[in-house]
Amino acid sequence: MKKNIVDIQTKLQALLLTQHDNYLQGAVADYIPALAKVKPDLMGISVATIDGKHVGAGDYQRTFSIQSISKIFGLVMAMNRMGDSLWQRVKMEPSGQPFNSIIQLEWEKGIPRNPVINAGALLISDVLTTHYSSSKLAFLTFIRNLAGNDAIRVDNQVYQSELTHGNRNAALAYLMKSFDNIEAEIPKVLSHYFTQCSVAMSCQQLAQSLLFLANKGVDPKSKKVICSPKDAHRVNAILSTSGMYDQSGEFAFSVGLPAKSGVGGGLIAIVPNYGVICTWSPPLNEYGNSVVGMNLVAGIAEELGLSIYH
Ligand code: DON
Repeated sequence: MKKNIVDIQTKLQALLLTQHDNYLQGAVADYIPALAKVKPDLMGISVATIDGKHVGAGDYQRTFSIQSISKIFGLVMAMNRMGDSLWQRVKMEPSGQPFNSIIQLEWEKGIPRNPVINAGALLISDVLTTHYSSSKLAFLTFIRNLAGNDAIRVDNQVYQSELTHGNRNAALAYLMKSFDNIEAEIPKVLSHYFTQCSVAMSCQQLAQSLLFLANKGVDPKSKKVICSPKDAHRVNAILSTSGMYDQSGEFAFSVGLPAKSGVGGGLIAIVPNYGVICTWSPPLNEYGNSVVGMNLVAGIAEELGLSIYH
């Protein structure tokens, strides 16, 4: 049963208190050194609804590196540009492998398993690079319009850090190019990919900007069509099966919402026909998902009966 928004605010605050020390069970990502500088005990949660309400608790207005959550925006832009032909270059199956694994990509001849593992997001970055004269600006403009905030920007320190430590992503991109599944020059593809990962946003901004996925592709704030209902369904399906990487099965089993995490500690969950939950807490578990974020989403989903499998 979905409660009114005042009850939810109280619930969010209570939930945060239950997580007080739980961040100690995870570790902040340090394979991108700039991310390791973030304070581990920050935590926030936002809930935005398609009928225009928003509540938050903790550090929900503080910006963080959205990292892989950016893969959702890139995917929607690429779907809008390429239509069904996109699905000849990337599949929609769970990978069952870590998000930056390279093993499967060789067996499967340079076709990534899905658009939300790194190989898939690099493929999407290639599509955007080749379809836009300035893909980075197009990406930022897309997000700024969705969030209704022109101040959203790229964190240049994180961008530089990703660029310097991006050899595995480069390897994935070159491997796909060797199978003719990347068109643009690799440095350009990587630069776009690292740019979108380095965008800084708050829980509040992310929740607002993803409402269209809970509303059949229409942004309820502006009433603009962001993607077709069919594509909104497809994105939610991919997030349900692959958005939490090789913990997606467990997340579906215990929470039951399309969701996406990022190694900056952000996590978003889409509640179709209702709204979006966004949490942030930097320490991650072994799969790269935020420990506290998963607890918070599980808690609020349980409390409000939000699972799509009910
Ligand atoms: O390419 C990377 O490894 C990072 N920029 C993004 C990875 C990420 O967020 C995976 N999420 N859990």
